[in-house]
Amino acid sequence: MAARSEGTIGQEGIILTNDDASVCKLSAVRHGYWQDPFISHLVRQYERKAPEIHRGYYARVMAVQRLTEAFLARCGADAQVLNLGAGFDTLYWRLKSAGCRFSNFVELDFSAVTARKLMAIQRQKGLMTAFKSDEGEVRVGRAALHAEDYHLAPVDLARLADVRTALEECCLRPDRPTIVLAECVLVYMESRACHELLSHLASTLRTAYLVNYEMVGVDDRFGQILVQNVRGRGCDLAGIEACNSDQTQMQRFTGAGWDDAKVWRMDVVLRRLPSADVRRMERLELLDEMDILLQLLEHYGITVAWRDPDGLGLGELDYT
Ligand SMILES: C[S@@+](CC[C@H](N)C(=O)[O-])C[C@H]1O[C@@H](n2cnc3c(N)ncnc32)[C@H](O)[C@@H]1O
Repeated sequence: MAARSEGTIGQEGIILTNDDASVCKLSAVRHGYWQDPFISHLVRQYERKAPEIHRGYYARVMAVQRLTEAFLARCGADAQVLNLGAGFDTLYWRLKSAGCRFSNFVELDFSAVTARKLMAIQRQKGLMTAFKSDEGEVRVGRAALHAEDYHLAPVDLARLADVRTALEECCLRPDRPTIVLAECVLVYMESRACHELLSHLASTLRTAYLVNYEMVGVDDRFGQILVQNVRGRGCDLAGIEACNSDQTQMQRFTGAGWDDAKVWRMDVVLRRLPSADVRRMERLELLDEMDILLQLLEHYGITVAWRDPDGLGLGELDYT
């Protein structure tokens, strides 16, 4: 079998998942679920999505943002963010506009994705002006951008040697506390490559907190249908075995050298949202089929894992 390399047909379906996610986020933002003045600079296509999709994305985006804010508040301004398979995520700009402090924010993805993100960033002054650059320098390369506290770099996460080089080019400091984000990314990687990546991060980053969002509990009938649907859209879910249960998700991290891990299913995340959030969502649009939404969300989850040798209490961080 031919080895996979960047630009192969197998990657096209995976790369398209970023467009899907971005269009869903834009639709939720336009319907008032959360504020994101940056996303429309990155996503041009608009398509109205269903209320179930909006609520699912709301729970996901808010949980990831709040965990990141909690980590930054706990670890201070030296902390870094590493976003794996970042797609068109706008978290860097949202955190900056909320006044959050961090020393570095690194985004990695396939070059087909980072090249498009780079073009959009260059086109929009509102995105460019966020970069902290005391020395006034923003370097732009082939599908890459390097500013003082923001780095966008093209890499196939399945190629560890390339990831190491990219992290060096992006000035990620292993001695600084780092939150690693992986939203719907690891499931597309072969288990072995994923294990190597997670082991590398666990063994090099001294203090780290990893937030992984993806399917969980796919070994029941509903889960199998979900998996078939995604595969039907041309995506090989090479790492799906890790999504079978809470245990397989946690084992993926603890087996790669992370101290410990835990899982929140997304139906629980949605139910635990502050009541003011829920009332506000209910006023935005009607949702007839709450049971269907909850069944879907039961099959997605946030797994967090941590390396905390200095006892910062990372295992206690919460998204609420
Ligand atoms: C579903 S999208 C999610 C994008 C973003 N994390 C979000 O939540 O909006 C998955 C992203 O992971 C990227 N990705 C998947 N496998 C990758 C790999 N081996 N190397 C680099 N990027 C990868 C895809 O290109 C895509 O941008």
